[in-house]
Amino acid sequence: MTDQLSAPPSALVDPGVAAPASWWRDAVIYQIYPRSFADSDGDGIGDLPGIRSRLPYLRDLGVDAVWLSPFYASPQADAGYDVADYRTVDPMFGTLADARALLGDAHDLGLRVIVDLVPNHSSDQHEWFRRALAEGPGSPLRARYHFRPGRGADGELPPNDWPSIFGGPAWTRTTDPDGTPGDWYLHLFAPQQPDFNWDHPAVADEFRTILRFWLDLGVDGFRIDVAHGLVKAEGLPDVGVRTEWHLLDVGVSPCFDRDGVHDIYRSWRTILDEYPGERIAVAEAWAPTLGRVADYVRPDELHQAFNFSYLGTAWDAAAQRRAISESLAAMRQVGAPATWTLSNHDVVRHTNRLLQPDDGDVAGRRPAEVDPVAGLRRARAATLLLLALPGSAYLYQGEELGLPEVVDLPPEVRQDPAFHRATGQDGYRDGCRVPIPWAGDRPPYGFGPPGGASWLPQPASWAGLSVAAQQGDPASTLELYRAALALRRADPALGAADNLRWCAAPEGLLVFERGTSLRCTVNMSAGPIRIPRPGAALLTSGPADLSGAQVVIPADTTVWWAV
Ligand code: GLC
Repeated sequence: MTDQLSAPPSALVDPGVAAPASWWRDAVIYQIYPRSFADSDGDGIGDLPGIRSRLPYLRDLGVDAVWLSPFYASPQADAGYDVADYRTVDPMFGTLADARALLGDAHDLGLRVIVDLVPNHSSDQHEWFRRALAEGPGSPLRARYHFRPGRGADGELPPNDWPSIFGGPAWTRTTDPDGTPGDWYLHLFAPQQPDFNWDHPAVADEFRTILRFWLDLGVDGFRIDVAHGLVKAEGLPDVGVRTEWHLLDVGVSPCFDRDGVHDIYRSWRTILDEYPGERIAVAEAWAPTLGRVADYVRPDELHQAFNFSYLGTAWDAAAQRRAISESLAAMRQVGAPATWTLSNHDVVRHTNRLLQPDDGDVAGRRPAEVDPVAGLRRARAATLLLLALPGSAYLYQGEELGLPEVVDLPPEVRQDPAFHRATGQDGYRDGCRVPIPWAGDRPPYGFGPPGGASWLPQPASWAGLSVAAQQGDPASTLELYRAALALRRADPALGAADNLRWCAAPEGLLVFERGTSLRCTVNMSAGPIRIPRPGAALLTSGPADLSGAQVVIPADTTVWWAV
C-alpha cells in the first residue's frame, strides 16, 4: 500500500478559462446504434419506434442528447454507413414520420437529437452511382466519384496503391455496359461505399441541401462520419508504403486530413448558424496530432471533435494525466470544449479494452477475453473519471449497463464487412453491437417482443445485466451512471468551465479538482492507496470504506469528493 502524506493542490496545469455557456459545451451525448437499441416490430432489428418508446429511459438516465447512427435508406453493406438515399428512412428502421415523431418526443422530454451524416462516400446503390455505372465511361455522373483507368498493359492494375481501411485495395474495377472490363472507382472502405469527389460542385451543393433537410425537420446537429476524408490530394498520388490503414489510426496520407476539408466545414457552419437553438456538428476526424484535430473546431468550423487520442490512452496515471492535459490545451487554443469517449460502435467496449494487454492496439480493434469482474471494476472507474472532466462526454449504448464485449460470436453470424474481407483487419466490431438487454431472463431480453430474434445473438448470461435487473440496485452500473449524471448536472463546478486543477498525488493515483468544490481521485495502480480523507465522499465507482481520517482507495476505483 502507498501512503500519501498530504495532497495539496499543485501548480495550476490547466488554468480556468471562462467559456461561453452553450448547451453542447458540457453535454453528455448518448450514442444510439439503432439496429441494436429497441425493436418494435419483432424483425430482430431495432428501429425508430423502438427508440421512441425508450426515450423516457434516456431522460431518466440523465443525458442531454442522443446521437443516432445512420437510419437512412441503405443496403446495409456497412450497417447503414453506406447511404443510398440521404433523405429517406430505411423501411427497416421506420419512416420519415417516425423520425419526425421521435424528434418531437425527444424535444418534449428535454433531449436533443444529433444524426449521423456520411459525406465521404455513398452506397453503390445511390442513384448517382448506379447511373454512373449504367451510363458507362462517358457519364457525367462519374465525375462525382473517383473513376480512373487502371494501370498495367490492359488497365488490370488499380490506379494507385491505396489500401482500403477494410482490407484489400481501395479500388474496384467496373464492367462497362458492353461487358468488357472498364475503369476503376475509389472506395476507402468497402467496395459498396464509393468515395465522393468533393471537388465537384454538385457534391458540395447536394450536402448543403441534405443539411438543411434535416435541420428543417428539427435535428439539433450532426455527427460527421470520416470528416477528415473528404478531400484527396490532387492526382491521387501513390503512398509508396505498403502498410494497412486502420480505423482510428491512419497517420498522414494523401486522402486524410487535407487542408481543403476545412473550407467545407466553414460553409456548413454558416448553415448551422442560420438555425435557432445552437445546432451543432461533431467531427469524426482522425488526425495525426491533437493540434490538427483542433483545426476542425476552430470558431468558424465544427463545434466538437471526437477525442480518439484519449480513447486510445492506456490505463496508467501518468499517461492519462498527459492525455487529459494535452487534450484540454489543444482545444483551449481554439476555444472549443474537449470531448471524451471510452466506447463507440467501432471499438472494443471499455469493459474489456482497458484491461487488454497493450500490444500497440490500444484503440481496441481486436477484442480479447478478460476477467469480467476486473474489467467492469476498471470500466466503472474510467467512466467516473470521464464524467468528471471538463467538456462534453459521449456514452455508447449499453455501457451504462456495464455490458462486456461479446468476444465469441461465431464467424457465420458476424456482419462487419471488414471481417469478411481479405485480411479481416478492423473486422471485429460486431462484439460491441450486440442488442441491448432491457428485461427478462432469456433472449431477446425485451430488445424485441418475446420469442423474437435479434440480428446478433445475445449471450445467455445477460439476464442479470438488463435494465430491469439493475434498476433500483444501488450497486448496479446503471445506478452508478444515473447518480454520476445527476451530480454532474447539479454541481456547477462540473459545468462547462475549463477549470481542471491537478493535485499532488502518489504514483498511480490521479487527483484533480474541478473548481473549488469537487475533487476526483482515481487509483490506477495495482494495489490500494491510502490518503488523508479529502472531504465528504459523493460517489465511488466500487466498494471502499471512506469513513476514517485516512481512507484507502482500492485499485481501479474512482471517488468523487466534495471539498
Ligand atoms: C466511420 C464509422 C464506421 C464506418 C466507417 C465508414 O468510421 O464510424 O462505423 O464503418 O466510418 O463509413
